[in-house]
Amino acid sequence: MAKDYRNDPEDLKNQPIPEGHHLLEVKDLKMYFHTHDGVVRAVDGVSYNLDRGETLGVVGESGSGKSVTVMTIMGLIEMPPGKIEGGDVLYRGKSLLTMSEREMCKIRGNDIAMVFQDPMSSLNPVYTIGRQLGEGLRIHRGYTKKQALARAVELLDLVGIPNPEKRVKMYPHEFSGGMRQRVMIAMALACEPDILIADEPTTALDVTIQAQIIELMKEMQEKNHNAIIMITHDLGVVADMADKIMVMYAGSPVEFGTADEIFYAPRHPYTWGLHNSIPETTIDEKRPLTPIQGNPPSLVNLPKGCSFSPRCPFAQDVCRTTKPKRYETSTGHYAFCHFAGDDDFVNRNMPVTSRTKAAARQVRSQESKGGAE
Ligand SMILES: Nc1ncnc2c1ncn2[C@@H]1O[C@H](COP(=O)(O)OP(=O)(O)OP(=O)(O)O)[C@@H](O)[C@H]1O
Ligand code: SF4
Ligand SMILES: [Mg+2]
Repeated sequence: MAKDYRNDPEDLKNQPIPEGHHLLEVKDLKMYFHTHDGVVRAVDGVSYNLDRGETLGVVGESGSGKSVTVMTIMGLIEMPPGKIEGGDVLYRGKSLLTMSEREMCKIRGNDIAMVFQDPMSSLNPVYTIGRQLGEGLRIHRGYTKKQALARAVELLDLVGIPNPEKRVKMYPHEFSGGMRQRVMIAMALACEPDILIADEPTTALDVTIQAQIIELMKEMQEKNHNAIIMITHDLGVVADMADKIMVMYAGSPVEFGTADEIFYAPRHPYTWGLHNSIPETTIDEKRPLTPIQGNPPSLVNLPKGCSFSPRCPFAQDVCRTTKPKRYETSTGHYAFCHFAGDDDFVNRNMPVTSRTKAAARQVRSQESKGGAE
């Protein structure tokens, strides 16, 4: 009988979270790449906490540092050219950045698992699905080949793959894109990780399959109570899923808040730009989509002052000379904009869609309070 590592006291996920700590704490993390062209400030001051059962959405355009942030957490950045320039990442109170590669190997796939963007390049074409699904269980849990295969069949069934006994013996190319993505999720969940990181897991899929994959991750989370970090360039994808959302621009967070705050009371012009570029499906409103003008800046040569100033329709002189400080609207909701604390500015310029929804919500909450009286 193989050793079952589920109750292994050495496994970090079986140890209590020390008092005063969260499941995951990212503290002012800075990771730069030192290249021939200069220093790429890929992650420049990212902070957040995550607890069990919570979902964090990380949203931003291509190149904003979403993937490099999580790859740094997982210890998957090649150093050099990468270099940690500051900050820390604590998992259950222990720093991941100071762990040896041997310690990180125990954590990767077992405590913190990742679903990568492109399932075809993450699956090995020459091995069967069953072998690849069972690999983590054999490494981390000491399963025999036979036990790992039996569990692989269960996992395929769990993620809704029909005929799992037959499918487990097949190769990745015999699966459709949606099925491969399900396999990736099954693989990431095989060892019941504390944290599931999903890096754009649905971009290559059609809308119906996207919805199924998100539903599947939510179901799995209800069962395992794991935390999820969901990375996407599309704010709409995390609308029904995230508890908290971090909006990233040019390597740094520009706004952070609960999903309600980011959807109903956003305070940063970049977040407004993201809102204006997603189709409105929830309310009966015919609104033209307005993409954000221009391109993100080079992370080697960031603009002086606010990084968003060259593209921001509200930029003033101060924006081009002085970096905005963090303005905290309410506990946990903050934005890096010189005018985030100016209610007149926010009320005047926030996209109609958010304002309308906020007003509707306020009315609903007043109505429900009134009804309760
Ligand atoms: N090995 C590397 N060397 C130099 N620069 C890198 C390296 N890896 C990533 N970068 C740069 O770091 C920045 C952040 O990249 P990252 O992959 O995190 O973006 P992203 O937000 O995930 O974008 P996408 O939505 O396209 O996946 C980019 O400017 C990228 O070019
Ligand atoms: S600080 Fe200025 S440029 Fe930056 S987002 Fe705010 S208004 Fe726009
Ligand atoms: Mg990415």
